[in-house]
Amino acid sequence: MNLLDNLNWRYAAKAMNGKKVSEDKIERILEAARLAPTSSGLQPFEIFVIKNQDIKEKIRPVAWNQSVITECSHLLVFAAWDTYTEDRINYMFDLTNEIRGFKNEGWENYRQKLLSEYPQQDAEDNFNHAAKQAFIALGIAMVAAANEKVDSTPMEGFDPAAVDEILGLCEKGLRSTVLLALGHRKEDADWLVNLVKVRKPMADLITVID
Ligand SMILES: Cc1cc2nc3c(=O)[nH]c(=O)nc-3n(C[C@H](O)[C@H](O)[C@H](O)COP(=O)(O)O)c2cc1C
Repeated sequence: MNLLDNLNWRYAAKAMNGKKVSEDKIERILEAARLAPTSSGLQPFEIFVIKNQDIKEKIRPVAWNQSVITECSHLLVFAAWDTYTEDRINYMFDLTNEIRGFKNEGWENYRQKLLSEYPQQDAEDNFNHAAKQAFIALGIAMVAAANEKVDSTPMEGFDPAAVDEILGLCEKGLRSTVLLALGHRKEDADWLVNLVKVRKPMADLITVID
């Protein structure tokens, strides 16, 4: 199957059957998320992979009681940095130097530019910027899941403060941003499974400027 076939196959499953997704598939989906591009390469988020059923049961009531939370195989929680700090910026620049094995003047100048701007900015603005980067990884994880014929349900319908509390994210300087349930669709319980996918026509989406 090609990419567009897989994207047409995927939909935001409303019911899952509880069957486990194999760990090798989960690893490839997570690796795709890890490879997501982010602004300045900072990857300002972490992903929590919840396999524990008791934790899923705790999250479900604070996530609009959505059944896929407990019916899924793995529940991913994308948690963005609560702000940009000097340490967080330096960590990624140092990691780049370490992995590439050299220091580059232009790159070091860019580090100083970010250090002189980001940590001083409003923490809420920084969190919102970090959350946008987490959404790029979310999108890539959904495409990767479809490529593995794994169903996924992205969810913003939850109380972030409550999820942060359950997972102890505040202490880690993180804030939950979006959830992604991974599993297998339960066709006989899902009102959406057989409905035609609705997208606006290309003409309403794309403007070509020659
Ligand atoms: C960021 C985001 C948040 C979403 N939140 C929810 C949610 O909380 N519950 C839900 O059932 N669907 C949720 N959806 C699914 C969308 O409603 C769905 O993707 C959209 O209607 C397009 O349909 P399709 O994904 O089935 O093609 C969310 C989708 C995205 C991208």
